[in-house]
Amino acid sequence: MDNLYKKDFPILLENNISYLDSAATAQKPLQVINAINNYYKKYNANPHRGAYKLSLESTKLYDDARKKVAKFINSKSEKQIIFTKNATESLNIVAYSYGLNNLCEKDKIVLSIMEHHSNLVPWQYVSKNTGSKIEYMYINEEGEITDEEINRKIDTETKIVGITHVSNVLGTINPIEKIIKRAHSVGAIVIVDATQSVPHLKVDVQKLDADFLAFSGHKMLAPLGIGVLYAKRELLEKMNPFLYGGDMIEYVYEQNATYAEIPAKYEAGTQNVEGAVGLSAAIDYLNNIGMDKVQTLEKELTSYTLQELQKLAFITIYGLTNKHAGVISFNVNGVHPHDVASVLDSENVCIRSGNHCAQPLLRFMGIESTCRVSFYIYNTKEDVDRLIDGLYKTKKLFAKWIR
Ligand SMILES: Cc1ncc(COP(=O)(O)O)c(C=O)c1O
Repeated sequence: MDNLYKKDFPILLENNISYLDSAATAQKPLQVINAINNYYKKYNANPHRGAYKLSLESTKLYDDARKKVAKFINSKSEKQIIFTKNATESLNIVAYSYGLNNLCEKDKIVLSIMEHHSNLVPWQYVSKNTGSKIEYMYINEEGEITDEEINRKIDTETKIVGITHVSNVLGTINPIEKIIKRAHSVGAIVIVDATQSVPHLKVDVQKLDADFLAFSGHKMLAPLGIGVLYAKRELLEKMNPFLYGGDMIEYVYEQNATYAEIPAKYEAGTQNVEGAVGLSAAIDYLNNIGMDKVQTLEKELTSYTLQELQKLAFITIYGLTNKHAGVISFNVNGVHPHDVASVLDSENVCIRSGNHCAQPLLRFMGIESTCRVSFYIYNTKEDVDRLIDGLYKTKKLFAKWIR
């Protein structure tokens, strides 16, 4: 498969690696690296602070990045885009600022069993502090949440539904439109964890009617340390801030303070302008390709990988849904995933092994860990062929243990 994009990723070219761990973090193209470089060479100053030109330019770059993110996910207004450190912080804002203040003993929080710990542990904290109860939507053999499960679990006691758009373990694309409709019909609000979807699929927050939606920049070609929380305006206006300090205030008195308007209300302290500039460049890069094309490329690669993996009798694949994004989990029967990953590493193939911050899901499936491969626009069939060769090598090395 010819790949038009790999040339933009110096780390892939210089190391001759097959990088199959983009669900953990994506590699960065030169266009993003250069945008960050350029920011520090020409524009660095604390935004929203100085009246001098450099600070105003830095402020403009920061604000323009917010507009770019708003357009990318089709938010009605850029004021509904809060910059955070990562998806984890975005999800914690919702738990602390909304969950702790709006739930009580008779309420239910419904999560999917597929949630990353980031959209699960904060809700355990809310549950313990409000007396509300957590219930899970479980998956079928194919790794899907059925309509019956959605309707059974989301009922009139439900006040919050937390759902990952794409599972970071199984790659399942969840039916979030249906889940959001059902949640709204019983008066619940929905937090979509879009960390594994916004980098790979077209996401339209207005069409989805999501109440909150969170993602991380670093999984979509942007630098580490920049994340996004989208929310409906009325929710952001009603909620209390999460962090308190500089820049999120209007007036401060000895005993009291009034808060700035959104989005500043949720952005206390000096912000990660470098990260926002990098995220803006990453969005330009993805827009130049087109999100439809990103999805098509990854779909082709995922089908090819599944087809090749299914030829290996010594492998178990998890979650053989036909609603599959570019994430695949499997095990080499009888061999620990860390050993598989080490053998593959010796062949310059980078995969993830472990529980993927989704222990309840793995426990539900009766396993402790998996090997996980995940794709992005720079991957090719050759990367997959190297993976398959590496798996044959694993089989040879661990012949005694293979089941
Ligand atoms: C589905 C999902 N949600 C949340 C996160 C947390 O992202 P971060 O570590 O960038 O906060 C991840 C990270 O792997 C993820 O895959």
